[in-house]
Amino acid sequence: MEQVDLNINGVVREVSVEKNWTLLKALRDGLRFTGTKCGCETGDCGACMVIIDGKAVRSCLVKAVNVSGKVIETIEGLAAGENLHPIQQAFIDGGAVQCGFCTPGMIMSAKALLDVNQSPTEAEIREAIDMNICRCTGYEKIVESIFMAAERMNGGKNE
Ligand code: FES
Ligand code: FES
Repeated sequence: MEQVDLNINGVVREVSVEKNWTLLKALRDGLRFTGTKCGCETGDCGACMVIIDGKAVRSCLVKAVNVSGKVIETIEGLAAGENLHPIQQAFIDGGAVQCGFCTPGMIMSAKALLDVNQSPTEAEIREAIDMNICRCTGYEKIVESIFMAAERMNGGKNE
């Protein structure tokens, strides 16, 4: 095992990892940040999506030792105390959550988009969640909820 410093949700945390551990494994097994889900571990499902230096990244595809010093965001960092992030709230209000397994990854992909573009087109939203598989919802409510979040985040200027 070796120690690596990971900057997660604004806090630098030291975690013991094996050299070959993915960031996903370091988050879940090393730090018990289990909001990031483990689906396929082969880069195919998007359940493990986090944001690294502003970009949505599948955490099963990067080694933990290679992201020391980068700014990592996980689903645990979104809510402010009791207040959910607007994307989280929109997913609830818009009925975008069924089993919920894909939801953290979907929300992180949506956040990476809305952090830089709060007036997205439907095509931009669908592209942003292109790497995220949902077996339950048919995607429509997810896309609608991301629209709803964008509206709320920019104060209705999308009208
Ligand atoms: S667990 Fe990473 S893409 Fe499926
Ligand atoms: S809500 Fe079940 S996989 Fe998306």
